[in-house]
Amino acid sequence: MTSVTGAWQGFHAWREARRVSGLERPVHFIPTMGALHEGHAALIRAARTETSAEIVVSVYVNPTQFNDAVDFESYPKTEAADVELAMNAGADVVVFPKPEELYPGGIPDRAPETDYGALTRLWEAEHRQGHFDGVVAVVRELFRETQPHRAFFGEKDWQQLAVIQRLAALEFPGLQVVPVGTVRESGGLAMSSRNARLSASGVERAQALYRGLAQIARQEGAAEVVNAVRAHWVAGGIEVEYLAVVDAEDLTEPRMKHRPGRVIVAAWVEGVRLIDNLPLPPLTQ
Ligand code: PAJ
Repeated sequence: MTSVTGAWQGFHAWREARRVSGLERPVHFIPTMGALHEGHAALIRAARTETSAEIVVSVYVNPTQFNDAVDFESYPKTEAADVELAMNAGADVVVFPKPEELYPGGIPDRAPETDYGALTRLWEAEHRQGHFDGVVAVVRELFRETQPHRAFFGEKDWQQLAVIQRLAALEFPGLQVVPVGTVRESGGLAMSSRNARLSASGVERAQALYRGLAQIARQEGAAEVVNAVRAHWVAGGIEVEYLAVVDAEDLTEPRMKHRPGRVIVAAWVEGVRLIDNLPLPPLTQ
């Protein structure tokens, strides 16, 4: 343990403490928006497997990636519990960045546009206008502030992971983006801070999402199974925003031979927007 360990208000304070300690270990970085749960803990544990690194978690609810002001305002803030969960999972440091460190010119209404082709045009990008512009803008600054050797992102947000991999490849040579598998509740529902807004019956209804995705994955993404699953969800009171079988890397349709696929979904249950995805084996014919 170093004197740098613990919670810091702002990157400046953390960096100053590192400098004074003289111990500047390589950084393994886990950016979050707080309201931490076991999904976030899995990322921290994955980062911990390398003992010589300093495990840095950031907690910042980034306004520019919310396309819905109410969603932003109501985002849960649980700072003390976040520090406890992060430290218990193996973090060395939890930083609460100051807005001016990430947005020196003030927080813009909209982040500058990012164009990574289909990755920033389809699915989440189409349904949440400006979302990835905000994600890229803030993660770029977070990477600049932390200079990580590795950064850990959840497969739960598959398209975000692909966007960040592109950002790293283009702007942060040497940074390794490490994907971490989705952590689920016992009924299969992917963990999310938004699940707390569901009633008990809403949770039950939402569990059908995972079962449907698993069925599609077992049947290798066959179109008739996709249609049957969609119809089943709708009959069960789930509003489907999109459900698609896509190329795992560039998220385009249709899938090409010999390339891994992904089945991706965004759907609404009780006014809560949920996203999830599962892998599909490469098409052989
Ligand atoms: P947030 O939603 O807090 O998620 C932080 C990280 O935790 C992301 O990489 C996300 O994919 C991962 N995660 C969330 N739920 C998970 C689960 N059930 N299993 C595995 N990983 C999970 O994603 C963001 O914040 C923001 O967009 C951010 C990248 C921090 C930029 O503001």
